[in-house]
Amino acid sequence: MGRDESAGLAGSPFLRACRRRPVPHTPVWFMRQAGRSLPEYLRVREGVAMLESCTRPDMIVEITMQPVRRYAVDAAIFFSDIMVPLKAIGIDLDIKPGVGPVIADPIRDAAGLATLRPLEPDDVPYVTEAVGGLVGELGSTPLIGFAGAPFTLASYLIEGGPSKNHDHTKALMYGEPELWHALMERLADITIAFLKVQVAAGASAVQLFDSWVGAVAPQDYRESVLPHTSRIFDEVADLGVPRIHFGVGTGELLGLMGEAGADVVGVDWRVPLDEAVRRVPPGKALQGNLDPAVLFAPWEVVERRARDVLDRGRTAEGHVFNLGHGVLPSTDPDMLARLADFVHEASAR
Ligand code: CP3
Repeated sequence: MGRDESAGLAGSPFLRACRRRPVPHTPVWFMRQAGRSLPEYLRVREGVAMLESCTRPDMIVEITMQPVRRYAVDAAIFFSDIMVPLKAIGIDLDIKPGVGPVIADPIRDAAGLATLRPLEPDDVPYVTEAVGGLVGELGSTPLIGFAGAPFTLASYLIEGGPSKNHDHTKALMYGEPELWHALMERLADITIAFLKVQVAAGASAVQLFDSWVGAVAPQDYRESVLPHTSRIFDEVADLGVPRIHFGVGTGELLGLMGEAGADVVGVDWRVPLDEAVRRVPPGKALQGNLDPAVLFAPWEVVERRARDVLDRGRTAEGHVFNLGHGVLPSTDPDMLARLADFVHEASAR
């Protein structure tokens, strides 16, 4: 919070765009900018399991800094995972390479629900330590803290792992609304606590990832999801940092996601940004939305597509350039470097 005024962060194009203020150039960062597309990441991670790496402050700092050194990105994102707070409260889970989060005992009843206790700052001392270290290294580059949103966390917990159709999740949502809301409430509390820890330690913005909520119809989103996400945004509002809300396949939900209360709505690559402007309520900035797979095409194509994103983004009250989802592991880092430079040059005012 206070870091904003003290360290020249207030002038950050990223924070200004989130607040819908004029910017010298469109700011850019990439979801999953740290990770398997970087050879230096693979070297650091050798022999260390994903969740283990998220508990080592020196490793978190190094991995978070890697893309900042390589690319002219306007923000860093804290290296962690949406499953970290659940692991920290004792849920037996792992992140399996090439698969994703896997939960030993899926939560499908009241007894399972009872295993979800509140998250205390002392449960994640490595997060506080790593954010503190990063704030020093990053200087005037803002650090984005993040957490998983209740629906996406619930889906992993209920299914026991990644899921295409979210069968068990929807069965519970439709069939046992009381248990559903109780579960969503506990997850929202954990998410709020995890975001507060990161901001208290010096994060300058937060992003709520509801990656899989695109599986839900608008009516069900309003009834079963929105009350919980909107409480999260309410409870972190007075921390004074911009709040970003992102999901995949959320074209039909963009208006409701805006209603949930974030300052910035993240848009995947399926909805052009000028159309997203029409779907999101006024008073929001937008973030997105180049298809990450475009980076596998020749540079001329990437440039043309990136220019199109910038042109459409100009119709928004504020625009943070990003991909429409995370960097794919086989992406050439040089393409991302070129893209960040291009976004700055092509948008310079
Ligand atoms: O650079 C960044 O964006 C910050 C780091 C970050 C990670 N996970 C590191 C990670 C962030 C923001 C996340 C969030 C996350 N984790 C989400 C929401 C974002 C999204 O992509 O929609 C989700 C759904 C997860 C759950 C998860 N964790 C998945 C689906 C996977 C991939 C599994 C695989 O191997 O394909 C993970 C593992 C994970 N989290 C990796 C990284 C860099 C890759 C595993 C590794 O490098 O060993």
